[in-house]
Amino acid sequence: MVYGKSTKYPFCEDDDSVYGPTTKSRWSYACSKAIDEFLALAYHESQRLPVIVARLFNTTGPRQTGRYGMVLPRFVDQALRGKPLTVFGTGHQTRCFADVSDSVRALLLLAAHPKAVGQVFNVGNPEEVSIYDLAKLVKKIAESKSEIRLVPYDEAYQPGFEDMERRVPSIDKIARLVAYKPKVKLHDIVSRFIDARRQEFAAAERVPVTSALHAQPLRAGAGE
Ligand SMILES: NC(=O)c1ccc[n+]([C@@H]2O[C@H](COP(=O)([O-])OP(=O)(O)OC[C@H]3O[C@@H](n4cnc5c(N)ncnc54)[C@H](O)[C@@H]3O)[C@@H](O)[C@H]2O)c1
Repeated sequence: MVYGKSTKYPFCEDDDSVYGPTTKSRWSYACSKAIDEFLALAYHESQRLPVIVARLFNTTGPRQTGRYGMVLPRFVDQALRGKPLTVFGTGHQTRCFADVSDSVRALLLLAAHPKAVGQVFNVGNPEEVSIYDLAKLVKKIAESKSEIRLVPYDEAYQPGFEDMERRVPSIDKIARLVAYKPKVKLHDIVSRFIDARRQEFAAAERVPVTSALHAQPLRAGAGE
């Protein structure tokens, strides 16, 4: 996130970004996003390139994978498989999750508005939740018996990992220009996610049977 570890909440588009030292590689992510924005805005200034910068805060929704570290898919998979929900750190850190349908609508509204060009907008849902409470919510909605287990940052990430205590978008600017307001509340985001994952699990269980049935005639045909 381009704001880095700024402690101003909520983050507004013109707030200062705060980064850690270059010896902590995680800050390269925030810096690279800032460089992209500088370049996009410079091309707009010098070449009149019609750019709009959208800063996407945590976005989630059905079919998001946990493979790259995303927290909600991980918690849901753990809850549905009856495994412990592993909360990194104290769980007091907070995030704000937007449903992907809300984020996509925000992007389409911005892209269709001529006055958005050359500007920066936060896109997100300011409903804040602690990660521990998110784990509890997943467990409750999934009706899971899994325990919630705290895992120290040093075990979960590399030693010296710095997390952000809070990450809250101000969405006043996008609300003013295109009347954007997120529609999907956190409870529904989690509930839809769990429903979708249950269906994926059920479908995955059916796959081997179907593919085995189809595989035989195909193999036989290829050999003829
Ligand atoms: N979700 C997105 O919209 C998005 C977009 C672009 C990039 N990313 C990248 O993916 C990363 C992960 O995304 P995210 O949505 O989980 O948000 P995130 O990393 O902002 O928030 C997850 C929070 O939950 C904590 N956490 C506790 N237990 C966890 C667990 N078992 N697994 C993962 N995190 C746990 C993390 O330490 C962190 O504080 C982001 O930090 C970012 O680098 C995410």
